[in-house]
Formats: sequence, structure tokens, C-alpha cells
Amino acid sequence: MVSRVIPVDPFDLVIFGGTGDLARRKILPGLYRRFLAGQMPEDARIIAAARSDMDDAGYRAMIGEAIAEFVAKSKQDKSAIKKFLERLSYVAIDATGEGGWDALKAATRKDVTQAFYFSVAPSLFGPLAERLHEKGIACETCRIVVEKPFGRDLASAKALNATLAQHFHEGQIYRIDHYLGKETVQNLMAVRFGNMLFEPLWNAQYVDHIQITVAETVGVGGRGSYYDKSGAMRDMVQNHLMQLLCLIAMEPPSQFDPDAVRDEKLKVIRALDPVEPDEFVRGQYEGDKDGQSYKADAEDAQSLTESFIALRLHISNWRWKGTPFYLRTGKRLKARASEIAVIFKDPPHSIFGPQEARRGNILAIKLQPNEGMTLRVTIKEPGPGGMRLVEVPLDMSFADALGPDGSDIPDAYERLIMDVIRGNQTLFMRGDEVEAAWAWTDPVIAGWEERGERPYPYEPGSTGPEEAQILMHRDGRRWREVKE
Ligand code: BG6
Repeated sequence: MVSRVIPVDPFDLVIFGGTGDLARRKILPGLYRRFLAGQMPEDARIIAAARSDMDDAGYRAMIGEAIAEFVAKSKQDKSAIKKFLERLSYVAIDATGEGGWDALKAATRKDVTQAFYFSVAPSLFGPLAERLHEKGIACETCRIVVEKPFGRDLASAKALNATLAQHFHEGQIYRIDHYLGKETVQNLMAVRFGNMLFEPLWNAQYVDHIQITVAETVGVGGRGSYYDKSGAMRDMVQNHLMQLLCLIAMEPPSQFDPDAVRDEKLKVIRALDPVEPDEFVRGQYEGDKDGQSYKADAEDAQSLTESFIALRLHISNWRWKGTPFYLRTGKRLKARASEIAVIFKDPPHSIFGPQEARRGNILAIKLQPNEGMTLRVTIKEPGPGGMRLVEVPLDMSFADALGPDGSDIPDAYERLIMDVIRGNQTLFMRGDEVEAAWAWTDPVIAGWEERGERPYPYEPGSTGPEEAQILMHRDGRRWREVKE
């Protein structure tokens, strides 16, 4: 199958924080891959703006190295890299002072699509928005891309939305949640709304429960100082897992249009019940012989921050009343594997006798690695000897099903950046969505802080604390084993 690459209009993309980790690991390598795919027009330009004193040649060398490190060897084409690097330029800028703004203004063009990517510390989001205006660089049609974290609670998210709104209207603001750029996450919508098979069963009458797991093997590592102020709830649940929950639970939007989709997501968040103290389990990894403990990574021997969380959620609406959603995410777990599993109810009656009573179907959507879907179905066990049943997976790996192109799935960032250039906000969070997610998250965090709750310790390389299993067992259910 040949994938379609639709070129975008000429653009200037300014990346504030262009020398940072995200820019080197994800943004620039992603842009190179889009360039290689032929999506970038001749006169597209990428302008990095950062604090360091550097010239264009120095920046190009830096990104050349990043491409060598973070792009698959099979995609490293010398002449293409050279041509791509020629698109890059660098402006040394003082985000809160005067230096560099005139040079930036001179480097950008008013007659092409303009996007400004804020890949910087959140404290700079406001000042950058302000400066872009003051210096006459921003225009009515230009876009800003804002990285996470978007606030750390409802009050700070509201304040940030208000600051950005002074300079840009909502249609210009692209709040990134890179989970929305993942291929399988979008496939969730394709599967639900592109097939007749699933949607009629997609409700509390037929679905027993839903599990969302985002498991990581990495620890907090060098990000301890940021992470320790966030924890898994703020870092992963409020944004990434919440977005997955919305896409799986929302009503069908009338069309695949930014506001139609985001209106439906917002309704899900607003219908979430408050989480009771016995409906979540927090964990913190201990040390093992190969690695440091969370407390050592966070450089706080008293830290009460969670590196793991499991929760049971309820959505109070007609579709989902009575179907629990179980979410879990954590660091230093057994496998790097993320999936969404829809566990259907058991068939009501077994015509083959009680010994052949079957368990419900399971639709598992694997987000990473090895994107794909499996559907557990019951079939007859082959061979003579009567009607014996067996459960087998109907397996679809996207890489196998879609041929060579299927294994070459664009990274979340490259897809999202191209959507910014195209002016398509469907996969970006709207201000009210972010605020609603914080409004739901805040009381849960405040509750455990007030109670001074300690996270349960868990062993690195495990599936998290035992208490997370108990959360499920109490309801007569089990977490699925997620594998890489
Ligand atoms: C980031 C979090 O947003 O997502 C990190 O800050 C986390 O803590 C990362 O590791 C996970 O992203 P991915 O794409 O590797 O699943």
C-alpha cells in the first residue's frame, strides 16, 4: 500500500527552544522525515531561536548530529540531510529581554504560513506570546504551538489560557498532547466510527469494563526535578490517559472536525465522577541492583510523589453508566507497552453446555510498540470429538497489514507539526478541555495531599504495587498482561 503524502503550503516554523532536548530528539528529526517524504515545499523554512550564542552553521551541525542519532539509519540519506539542513537558520534570542527580536522579525515572512513552537519552560509561554505581539512579529493568522505541561492545576491553566488569549485567539493556539499524534490513537476513531461492527456494542449494555495501560520501563532519570513536582497523575493521567479515555468513551461527533470532536471529548471529562479515595492506588519504585530508586532519582529522600498510579473511573452518562474504566500508568515497570482494551460481557447463555461457557470478546488496541489490534473470539477447537470451544486472537499488526509503509509510521510529533501548518486543530487540546481535565484532577490530588498519603513501594521491573492488583480483584476483575 502506498501512503499518500500531501505537500503543505510554504511556511516559516520558528522553534523557541530549538537547541533543547525535545527539538533535537523529536521535532527536528520529525521535520527531516517529512522533508524526506516530500511533504515540505521548496520554500519552507525552519528558524530555531534559543539562548545560546550560535550561528546557522553551528546549528546545522548540531541538528546533523541529532539526525544521525535519532533517525533510523535506513532514512539517513546524505544529500537529503544536506538539503534539509540548508532550510535551517538560527537566531540567538533573549525570551524575556530585547536581544534577538529584530533579527527574528527580519527572518520571518508575512506572506507564508507562520507557526511559533514554544518548546521551552512553561514560565516562558506567556512572555513569548507577549513579545511576539509587542515586536510586531505575530499576525492574525499565525499559530502558536504550546508544549505540556499546560499548567499544574486548574488555577495555573486558567491563568495561562487567559494570558495567551490576550494575544492570540483560540483558533491560533495549538496545545500539544503528543499522544493524539500517535497512529493507533487516531485509529481508535477510525475503528469506532468507520465500522458498523463495534459502535452498536460500544456501551454499558455490552461492555463489561475498559482498561487503559501506559507502562514504561524507563525511570525518571535526569528529569527528577520536574517530575517530582508532577508525579504520574499530572505528568500522564491529566493529559495523555485522559485523551485516550475521551476518544474511547465519547459520543460519535457529527463530523471529523476540530470543534465537533473536541466538544464530544469535553462532555466525557465533564461527566467523570469524582474519584473516591479507595478508587486509586499510587506507587513509587524502589531501587534494584541495576538502578536507582525513585527517591534517589528525585533527589528527595522524603518524596511522596507517585511514579505509578492506577485508578477506577466512572462516567455518569447514558452510554457508560455502570461500566468502569480502569487506568494505570507508571515508570520502571516490566515492559514498555501501552494498550486500550475493551472487555465485552460474557455471552448470556452457553448452548454448548456449562463446561463450554465462554468469556467475552476483548478488543485490544495496542498503542506501542508494534501498533496493532487484536480481537479475542471464540471458535471451535479443530478436530473431531465433539464441540469444544477455544478462544483465539484475531490478530492485526498494522505493519503486516499495511505492508512496508505500515512499519514506517510517522512519529506523533511529525504528524502534529504538519497539522499545525495545515491549520487543523482536531488533534490539539482546546482551552476548555484542559481546564476541565484539571478541574477533575485537582480534588483527587488535594485529597491525597491532605491525607498525607504515602505511595506504595514497588519493585522495578514489576507490574506496580500489589495494591493495584487488589483494586481490580475487589471488582472480580484482573489487569491484562501487557507485553512489548
Ligand atoms: C511525556 C511524559 O509527556 O510522555 C514522560 O512527560 C513520558 O514522563 C512520555 O515518559 C511518554 O511518551 P511516549 O510517547 O514515550 O509514550
